[in-house]
Amino acid sequence: MPAPRPRPPMKGPVWIIALISLIILLLIGAYMVPLGGYLFCYFFSGLGCKSISEWLPLTPTREYSDAEIAARGVIRDILQTPPIQTKTPKIAFMFLTPGTLPFEQLWDKFFDGYEGRFSVYVHASSEKPEHLSRYFVNRDIHSEKVVWGTNSMVDAERRLLGLAFQDPDNQHFVLLSDSCIPLHNFGYVFNYLMNTNVSFIDCYEDLGPHGSAGRYSEHMLPEVDYKDFRKGSQWFTMKRQHAMIVISDGHYYPKFKLYCKPGMEGDKNCYSDEHYLPTFFYMMDPGGIANRSVTHVDWSERKWHPKAYQAQDVTNEILKNITSIDESLHFTSDERKLLVDKACMWNGMKRPCYLFARKFDPEALDTLMHHFSNYTTI
Ligand SMILES: *[C@@H]1O[C@H](CO)[C@@H](O)[C@H](O)[C@H]1NC(C)=O
Ligand SMILES: *[C@@H]1O[C@H](CO)[C@@H](O)[C@H](O)[C@H]1NC(C)=O
Ligand SMILES: *[C@@H]1O[C@H](CO)[C@@H](O)[C@H](O)[C@H]1NC(C)=O
Ligand SMILES: *[C@@H]1O[C@H](CO)[C@@H](O)[C@H](O)[C@H]1NC(C)=O
Repeated sequence: MPAPRPRPPMKGPVWIIALISLIILLLIGAYMVPLGGYLFCYFFSGLGCKSISEWLPLTPTREYSDAEIAARGVIRDILQTPPIQTKTPKIAFMFLTPGTLPFEQLWDKFFDGYEGRFSVYVHASSEKPEHLSRYFVNRDIHSEKVVWGTNSMVDAERRLLGLAFQDPDNQHFVLLSDSCIPLHNFGYVFNYLMNTNVSFIDCYEDLGPHGSAGRYSEHMLPEVDYKDFRKGSQWFTMKRQHAMIVISDGHYYPKFKLYCKPGMEGDKNCYSDEHYLPTFFYMMDPGGIANRSVTHVDWSERKWHPKAYQAQDVTNEILKNITSIDESLHFTSDERKLLVDKACMWNGMKRPCYLFARKFDPEALDTLMHHFSNYTTI
């Protein structure tokens, strides 16, 4: 047997071919897989590459549990199915109140003449209300105690939605408190809410102690990620499809029920009425919400509670002033402090932001009644 021929040492041209092939492979890789691009940029930086982090895959899409796959499928289908059109579409006005509504007479004025285009529901959490208006008589629903800042608040909102949902004519749902007043006439409000495809749900990111930093809990993982945690005022309006996904949500709400409450983990105070709906909609249908509330409230004093308008504060000028605001503000608890949204848009057009306002002192009723027809000319 002849002895195996010793391998000749690699010659120059072979090296060059090997190197060129490697470069070609990496170039192809750069366009096909992130890792190839990463390597390419690593070896040949300065060739107009994007920063390395952009080549790395974004947060890996997590694997959903069977239950979450099912929940998401149901939600997706509801969002893609327009609700049945009824002959007499209505708006459900849902009042969340401890007892008697101080502005019932004002609301009576607001509803007068628009019978058949709205329905009223009252959730009175501590005492049976006395009703003065025919639109409110017999409209109390089964209620349970509501403790401010706890999940009982969101439970009450869901109870109202669940009941109002029974009437197929209700196409849009509005949550109001006992201190809320209408800012426009009924026709304007009806048109504003019914002739749009979005829900007016407040939603923004607050990275400070009264937002994600102080309130988010990792116990909400994997369903609710830190980067999805959002904040917003609880006073929403929502279209029927959105009401349906809230009522049927048995997957995400339990996470808030368990891990977003006052006195969590020793010193965390999370308030689900400020986080559940903003976060849920940010995750499920971010393009379907306006990210702002249509209920005005004045936080500019930066206290724990918003400014309450007393009887002497209520003038025609101040009402006109609130009614004409067309930029929405968000106060955050981080160093940014104030986020100014450019403008309040409605179907792509700039429009006044607010349909309702709070908080008004019960004493202001007479003044409001006096000015009502003047400030609600539109
Ligand atoms: C709402 O959506 C429906 C269906 O996508 C569309 O036909 C309609 O024009 C939209 N309405 C508005 C006011 O955008
Ligand atoms: C609301 O914010 C989301 C992003 O969080 C955005 O996709 C959506 O377009 C916003 N909605 C409107 C009406 O601007
Ligand atoms: C509304 O009131 C605010 C604060 O009092 C004032 O700064 C603003 O100029 C007023 N706007 C109008 C349109 O009157
Ligand atoms: C109604 O509004 C007009 C103009 O804004 C004002 O001049 C008038 O005094 C108001 N009427 C009442 C009763 O306040």
